[in-house]
Amino acid sequence: MADANGDIARVLEATDIVRLIGEQLALKKKGAEMVGLCPFHSDRSPSMTVSARKQIYKCFSCGAGGDALAFMTEYHKMTFPEAMTFLADRAGIKLTPWKARGGFGGGSGGEFVEHDAGVSREQLAGANRAAGEFFRTILRHPEHGAAAREVIERRGVSAAMVERFGLGAAPDRWDGLLQVVERKGLARGDFAGAGLLKSRESGGFYDGFRHRLMFPIVDTTGRVVAFGARRLRDSDEPKYLNSSESALFIKGKTLYALPQAAEAIKATRTAVVVEGYMDAIACHQAGVCNVVATLGTALTVEGARLLGRLLGPSGAGGGAGGGASAGEGRIVLLFDGDAAGQRAAERAIEVLFDSPLDVRIATLAGLTDAKDPDELLKREGGAAVLAQVIERSVEALEYRFARLSQSLRNLGGQARGRAIEEELERLAGLGLARMKPVSQQMAVQRIAQIAGVNEVVVRQAIARAAAQRRGFGERDNDGRGEVGVEGGGPTGAVALVPTGAAEHALCLLVAETQLVEELNDAQWAELAPERFAPGGFRRIAEVLVEARRGAGRGAGRGAGDGAGHGAVEGGRALSRASLMAELEYGEMPLRVSAMCSAVERQYGDDLARSRAGLQDLLIRAEVEWLLRAARETTDPGERLELYKRAKGRRGG
Ligand code: UTP
Ligand code: MN
Repeated sequence: MADANGDIARVLEATDIVRLIGEQLALKKKGAEMVGLCPFHSDRSPSMTVSARKQIYKCFSCGAGGDALAFMTEYHKMTFPEAMTFLADRAGIKLTPWKARGGFGGGSGGEFVEHDAGVSREQLAGANRAAGEFFRTILRHPEHGAAAREVIERRGVSAAMVERFGLGAAPDRWDGLLQVVERKGLARGDFAGAGLLKSRESGGFYDGFRHRLMFPIVDTTGRVVAFGARRLRDSDEPKYLNSSESALFIKGKTLYALPQAAEAIKATRTAVVVEGYMDAIACHQAGVCNVVATLGTALTVEGARLLGRLLGPSGAGGGAGGGASAGEGRIVLLFDGDAAGQRAAERAIEVLFDSPLDVRIATLAGLTDAKDPDELLKREGGAAVLAQVIERSVEALEYRFARLSQSLRNLGGQARGRAIEEELERLAGLGLARMKPVSQQMAVQRIAQIAGVNEVVVRQAIARAAAQRRGFGERDNDGRGEVGVEGGGPTGAVALVPTGAAEHALCLLVAETQLVEELNDAQWAELAPERFAPGGFRRIAEVLVEARRGAGRGAGRGAGDGAGHGAVEGGRALSRASLMAELEYGEMPLRVSAMCSAVERQYGDDLARSRAGLQDLLIRAEVEWLLRAARETTDPGERLELYKRAKGRRGG
């Protein structure tokens, strides 16, 4: 790229690449260079070198490399102009004014406006920055900030934390931010792209966040990528609202409080992951600063990778379940209660198999009756209890086996042995079978030790899971049916891959059980068990129909009025855990957890999106059903009729 004004050279000169990268990854001195785990591939021993002398980074394993600007574009996914602006701001350099918006170098124009509605990440970040300032101003406003200040005070959040986390308030009106945007002549499209303004059907805009306590969600470069927003009035729904996802914000790849926690995570080589924003803030306020929060989701593999980069390489004893010795990077997942902990442990296993980190589970349940860390820390001596909870965390595998053996307490020797083998195969399916040989060997040893079986038994389970996967793969040809994905399941357990819209809809319902209560009778008809081929999906349909009956009764309301919130608030009649247990341990064991992860990957763990997706899938299921019936009928008149109906549904 031409550097006509010398801007690029000046920016690079003023940037220390070792510091820049060191803020994102743990780097260690090795000879004259710094080395660390390469963030561009799944690296298990440090293969990336950062050279202070040459001001470049280079991975000897995957070949990634370049200067500071390349790091910003590759790692932070910034466009070139964004990277220039970012590094210039950081170094306090003034760039030559651009000719037009996004006008660095002729070639980057197309790349620059690459996102939905033509709003770039830089523009989204700019809108968020401006909104963050506005929300902070409102928080100080005598009238408009009063409700939020009262909540902050009541919950005992210190002024220092309000500052550290940049807390703010959205006013109780439809045009608070809107007025500022218009008065200052800012680009409304940027704010709309970030979900800060919403457009009215009748034209015009209104504030996306109203009457809420605002938590800016900041990435490690200091950009505000989104907001979490807590209601200030109990009658408002939902309790927390997040910015909509955008080119700048992907929920599963974002952790709250990461920049505030980064230093402490690097220093302690431990990252604690809590469930709520307020919990993270309370921990920091109590001086426990290596704490981040997920955004209302389970910790994802990507989230764990972000933490892994700060934690740095684990030592020789590392690898999944490799019995961590002190000083190794460790992630502690801290859960409020027991039921949630079980689900989370399930997911934690996938995270664990993906990274060489020591992943541990801690729950408050055993040591306190406080609901969450925030509540615990408000109590006398709470900090000490929290420290104890973290101290007593157990390896994710150990936690899982402890729960398993609890549930097997009453089983005889043989049944018990079989259950353990099934669990082993489930683990093999969840990623154990895919681990690299060295880490796998360590995991096998550890599992054998925890489960109290011979290593050979573990190896056999892995082999069976792999064989099953091949076996299912061969059956793939007959079209409709189930094939193994990512390994098989327990002996005889079937891994599921949805083939049509109806199967997809079932997956979505298992992953988002709240939606089960929202479907009406006509929609349920599209999911009638007899419509599915005998086997896994028919079984799921049956279990869901039963669950729906139970839920209808439990929640004391007829299904199908489409009012989601009431059913959700009104006592969670149907829990995903119980449904999963039924499917995974039932008469016909099914492997549904990978399926749920796939759904979450697709819908981003976002209920509103899942709801919309489900509605769409049900219409498609109906169309597919009609078309199939049309193909199968021998009556030409009926066939035409069916085609017409299918066409009508598709169109409407
Ligand atoms: P909690 O309801 O446990 O929140 O949800 P909390 O942090 O303890 O909230 P306070 O203490 O009542 O203020 C935990 C997390 O789940 C997500 C949020 O990220 C929240 O911090 N969540 C919760 C949502 O995304 N939406 C909701 O409606 C509720
Ligand atoms: Mn709370």
